[in-house]
This record gives sequence, structure tokens and C-alpha cells, in this order.
Amino acid sequence: MAFWNRKKGNPNQAGEAELDLSRLPKHIGIIMDGNGRWARKRGLPRTAGHAAGAETFRTIAYHCRDLGIPYLTVYAFSTENWKRPAEEVSAIMDLLRKYLLEALAKMEKDGFRIRFLGDITALPPELRDLCLETLETGSHVDAKYQINVCLNYGGRDEIIRAAKAWAKDVADGRVQAEDLTEADFSRYLDSRGVPDPDLVIRPSGELRLSNFLPWQSAYAEFYFTDVLWPDFSPQVLNQAIADFQRRQRRFGGI
Ligand code: FPP
Repeated sequence: MAFWNRKKGNPNQAGEAELDLSRLPKHIGIIMDGNGRWARKRGLPRTAGHAAGAETFRTIAYHCRDLGIPYLTVYAFSTENWKRPAEEVSAIMDLLRKYLLEALAKMEKDGFRIRFLGDITALPPELRDLCLETLETGSHVDAKYQINVCLNYGGRDEIIRAAKAWAKDVADGRVQAEDLTEADFSRYLDSRGVPDPDLVIRPSGELRLSNFLPWQSAYAEFYFTDVLWPDFSPQVLNQAIADFQRRQRRFGGI
């Protein structure tokens, strides 16, 4: 039996949220935080927390697809995460490699594609090539669902790279500086063509954006929960969506 239903309403006593499937967010962003603390609580190495987090990501990605949410963006590796011990960085890269290989085998059959936000040119060459292959395969898929993986991503870095590309277009005479609009600038960002996130979720009790989609989240609704990412479940996601559906979005209007 499905654990959500089609009626409007509040979460029921079992903590299962009732969702209005006609008013789902089109784009959910998730900061997958708390893997290290989850592992430490169990006396496990941090890398075990990331492995558990990668499993949670798979579950949540399928759940979003099954609900009919067209875009999911996850923060997998930030421009600051290179400061972590080499062993941890390499474990995260391995998990990503494993997931992309799996996704490559399923994308066409399952009708989804993967995009990357962030500077993938600076990744280890094998992973960078796998990302490029994933993009190429995805470009032929008639996808109803897109996962954006933020990889070597920082929102400020994305904006600076976009500004440089725009400045080059100005210098080369392709565009006029005084004509620039928000919509024009958005087309220089890694997220070009992707609608802004409606809902940004951060588990693990931290109440920060941490350089995750700062431009794109300008009008997003935020949902914070103490649940650590490896313990995050479809039920928690449904609660976040139900909460989102109770909010009034005014986009600066009244
Ligand atoms: C933040 O938790 C998590 C990360 C920096 C890595 C996220 C990576 C994965 C979930 C695995 C690979 C991803 C995919 C898409 C297959 P933290 O380590 O900062 O946790 P802490 O704050 O408790 O230490």
C-alpha cells in the first residue's frame, strides 16, 4: 500500500503525511548532511556514514521519481569538501563512481537523466570521464525525471564562473552589459534550463545553506529536520512536502 494518499490534510498520527499530489514541488534540493555523525554514533568510520548516505540517496531518488517530482538536486561534494582527509574524499568519489555506473545502465530503460552542477573538470580523470559519459547518455533519454548531482560545487564558485563567462561574451561583443537580466544571467549558471528549487531540505539539525544553490534558492521554501541523512526516509520527505504544501508562497507579492 502506498504510504501517501491523494487527499489534502495534515500528517496523521503515525507520522505519515498526506500529500496533495496536484501541488507537489517541481524541484527539491537536498543537503545530504549528517553522515559523519551517524557513523560516529555507531562507532563506525565516517566512510561507513557516507556509504549509508549513498543508499538513502538511492531510496529518496526513487521516491521522488515515483511521486512525480521532475527535478531532484543533491549536494554530494562541495568545493570545500576537498579539505577532508584524502581517504574520506576518495571514499565519496568511489560511491559516486559506483552510483554513476549503476545509473548509466538504467537511465534509458527507466527514463531519467543526470546532470552535474559544479566544476567537474577538476575531478579525478576517471570520475570526470564517467560524468561526461553520463551526460552524453542522458542527452539521448526522453526523461521525465532529472537528478542534478552537485559535485565539486559551491554556489559562489558557480556565480563567479558564470560572471566570467558573461564578461567574456561582453568583451567579445556577443552581448551588451546594460541588457543583462536575471533570466539572461541564469543561463550562464550550471543550472541553466532547470527551474529554481521550490523546496530545499537540510537534515541533521544544521540551519545553514552552506553555499548550496544560493542564486536558485532565492524564493525556495526551507525545511530543516534533526534526522541524520542516513536515517532520512520517504516518510520524512513526505512530511517535508506536506509542510511545504501548508506554506503560502508570495514571491514578494501579497
Ligand atoms: C555531508 O555529511 C555529506 C557529504 C559531504 C557527502 C555526501 C555524499 C554521499 C551521500 C555519498 C555519495 C553521493 C551519491 C549521490 C551517490 P557530513 O560528512 O558533513 O556529516 P557530519 O556533518 O555529520 O560530519
